[in-house]
Amino acid sequence: MSKIEVKDLYLIFGSKRKQALELVKKGVSKDDVLKKTKCTVAVKNANFSIEQGEIFVVMGLSGSGKSSLIRCFNRLNNPTSGSILVNGHDVLKMSEEELRQLRRTELSMVFQHFGLLPHRSVVANTAFGLEIQGVPESESHEKAREMLKTVGLEGYEDMMTGELSGGMQQRVGLARALTTNPEVLLMDEAFSALDPLIRTNMQDELIELQRKLKKTIVFITHDLDEALKLGDRIAILKDGEIVQIGTPEEILVKPADDYVRAFVENVDRSMIVTASSLMFKNTGKLILEKDGPSLALRRMREMGVNRLPVVDRENVFLGFVRDNDVVELKKKDDRDLNKILISDVMPKVAPDTPAADLLPLFIDKQLPLPVVDDDGKLLGVAVHSSVIAEVTGRDREEIIEIKNSGGI
Ligand SMILES: Nc1ncnc2c1ncn2[C@@H]1O[C@H](COP(=O)(O)OP(=O)(O)OP(=O)(O)O)[C@@H](O)[C@H]1O
Ligand SMILES: [Mg+2]
Repeated sequence: MSKIEVKDLYLIFGSKRKQALELVKKGVSKDDVLKKTKCTVAVKNANFSIEQGEIFVVMGLSGSGKSSLIRCFNRLNNPTSGSILVNGHDVLKMSEEELRQLRRTELSMVFQHFGLLPHRSVVANTAFGLEIQGVPESESHEKAREMLKTVGLEGYEDMMTGELSGGMQQRVGLARALTTNPEVLLMDEAFSALDPLIRTNMQDELIELQRKLKKTIVFITHDLDEALKLGDRIAILKDGEIVQIGTPEEILVKPADDYVRAFVENVDRSMIVTASSLMFKNTGKLILEKDGPSLALRRMREMGVNRLPVVDRENVFLGFVRDNDVVELKKKDDRDLNKILISDVMPKVAPDTPAADLLPLFIDKQLPLPVVDDDGKLLGVAVHSSVIAEVTGRDREEIIEIKNSGGI
């Protein structure tokens, strides 16, 4: 079961919501609905799930409906139609009491402007969520102190929050959201008010914290770099509609439309596109124990290549064989590929190696780089021309042309 499941969700603001809903469902645009009914379509037909333990980023331009969408999760906004299941329970069907319970124990929100009480101490602010649950002060403050330690604020417990820097206040906000031990954290532009260096630190710490706490985090941001860094998956919102959901890599490599493309255009792809998306999975690999030169030559012809990777029966990468050597071996009527195996020239690379880091590893441009998992098993091969194409932003065809004319 998914942690949060959103189905056919619409959120419309304005008094003629029902009429507006009918129009949107008929395909009338957000602008036209506004003209006809004075209603704003904030979320339109959203369908997606968020899994336990993931950081799910919601990204989009200002006014695209990011806040509106996640405020539906805890019913700070009342959806116009659809359903939202949290742990399988529909929040649209919950009573006031059940909703209070949900907000206190299940979903916790961290806001952009911290939402702290400036004249309360750090520890009192942090304990606030527990306090409204009726937890005695001795206990709530003890838990608050523990959480402050976790977010790196040990020693600041008794200061007034108004005396802290922005970055520290945001940590208090985070600690406060975490003290009630919620399963889901909703973070709406939580780091946007911080200056860049502190923001980067907070991102690193959130990742570290998540490694320990394994919450489900829904994180809203305008910032693509932040989205790519934090998100296990990213949803891109445009005019209240989700135009694409995918891993950071999917968003970069296959933007669904021009809107998404405009977001990703300015990113240094070579730092984010990795060996696993560049590599060819269909490697034509040979198995040392059983394959011989005849099969090797036949496969090279089929694939139009002059070398093939060799693995053992467990698929552990052993090396490459080249066509010339295979021909020689065959002439000698020898079947042992081991004798012509080139095994020590090239480094093996992990699937998450950025494209930019692959380039210097090509010692022999004729031989691809083997991409292997932690156990050394072959996942695919990264070919020099593909890596160049990625890093220089040139077309693959163009590179092949340059290569054929003696360049690169
Ligand atoms: N309470 C409200 N009443 C009426 N309209 C609203 C309300 N809240 C949001 N809207 C409208 O809904 C749309 C989506 O707004 P929302 O605040 O969700 O966008 P956002 O993506 O979070 O933007 P930002 O990045 O600026 O925070 C906008 O057109 C906005 O004007
Ligand atoms: Mg917002």
